[in-house]
Amino acid sequence: MAEQKKQEIYNICVVGAGHVGLVAAACFAELGNKVVCVDNDKKRIEALRKLKMPFYEPKMEPLVAKNYNRKTLQFSSSLKDSIKKAEVIFLAVGTPPLEDGSADLTAIETVARTVAENLNSYKLIVEKSTVPVQTGKKVKETIYRYKKTDVPFDVASNPEFLREGKAVYDFFYPDRVVIGTESKRAEEILKSIYAPLKAPIVVTNINTAELIKHASNSFLATKISFINAVSRVCDLAGADIEKVALAMGLDKRIGSDFLQAGIGYGGFCFPKDLEAFIYISKRLGYDFDLLKAVKDINDNQQKNYVEKIKEHLWILKKKKIAILGLSFKPDTDDMRFAPSTAIVNAFLSEGSQISVYDPKAMPEAREMFKGKKIQFCSNLYAAVKGADCLCLVTEWDGFKKMDLKKIKKIMNYPLIADGRNMFDKDKVTGLGFEYLGVGK
Ligand code: UGA
Repeated sequence: MAEQKKQEIYNICVVGAGHVGLVAAACFAELGNKVVCVDNDKKRIEALRKLKMPFYEPKMEPLVAKNYNRKTLQFSSSLKDSIKKAEVIFLAVGTPPLEDGSADLTAIETVARTVAENLNSYKLIVEKSTVPVQTGKKVKETIYRYKKTDVPFDVASNPEFLREGKAVYDFFYPDRVVIGTESKRAEEILKSIYAPLKAPIVVTNINTAELIKHASNSFLATKISFINAVSRVCDLAGADIEKVALAMGLDKRIGSDFLQAGIGYGGFCFPKDLEAFIYISKRLGYDFDLLKAVKDINDNQQKNYVEKIKEHLWILKKKKIAILGLSFKPDTDDMRFAPSTAIVNAFLSEGSQISVYDPKAMPEAREMFKGKKIQFCSNLYAAVKGADCLCLVTEWDGFKKMDLKKIKKIMNYPLIADGRNMFDKDKVTGLGFEYLGVGK
């Protein structure tokens, strides 16, 4: 583990005002650095200058506002100018999945080229976006290829481990900071930037740092698919997955986190990172069959969930299905690769009538399901009114306080399909509901 270093103040440019970039920019500014966050989406930059956030993330808005007002955080759509003024450039641009599962690294290459063309003083270019192993090498080659001066530069990898919905907390209280470098200068700069966090710092080479990120996300996804697979056996055997997970988790070697069975993982990280890790491993010569199984188990959780409801209601055509929760997890409005989309689409193809409600993701949902016959509701009671099944898809805190007696009265048929094992089975069955959980 690396030693802590004294903090210095840096001129930082964060490229990309998405979940990783915007949170990191605000947090680096909060640590006292002079930060400019750049994005080529001019509308997004204009909105940020008016302190309008592009997505919902708890605790982010006040942090952005505080630092924007005290001028430690600025927003720009001029990549060239921002690069010229910065000493440290964090790449937090999107690396979306391509058809074949590989990561699209076009945005990374574009920024690397622009850095090369504007290399007016020493710069440290740091990958923060999740990228496949050996991307750093390509970034370095790109800068060498297009640079017009002999000004020195370094490339480093500093993967981000923050979770949506808890991003600000995760930034300030990380379990570890990973720094992959090839030079002492780059290592010292990054150690100094992270010094105030008092987190363990793992220093390694660039390839290893890149791989740590893919391996970490894939391992967490594996844990979820493992417990989901066990939940299937629990269903068949009449065992209780929650007790299984509790007892397994008490073993310190296993740990209790990420053992929550449900309708599977979603979001813009696990599904795409798993695909990208499978792809890059294959390209390097290793067939990562384990991860293919993790992905299959995950896809099947959603299919099995709908299947279970179908078995119960027999015919789904014209039945009203109320979907509560659309974001891929609570405390975010993000619906990218959300399990809710596969579930809604499965019910639509069965000819069911769908009503949906989510505390934050309704605008995203309207966009995502544009043109589809769905009733968008303004609250959960409107969604479940007249429903034959209440599908609990995202375990928002607010849902835990729902008035079940009222719901029982307004539903057409009192069936709860608890995709996140949020309800107490005995309590809801005691109130007269029929209950379908995941492995319990
Ligand atoms: C994940 C990682 O947890 C972060 O460390 C990482 O930085 C991030 O990806 C990323 O690569 O950017 P995130 O996608 O925000 O973070 O969400 P998680 O909290 O990890 O949840 C992912 C999915 O797994 C959600 O759909 C959640 O409902 C599901 N999940 C999680 C379960 O089904 N069971 C569990 O026990 C835990």
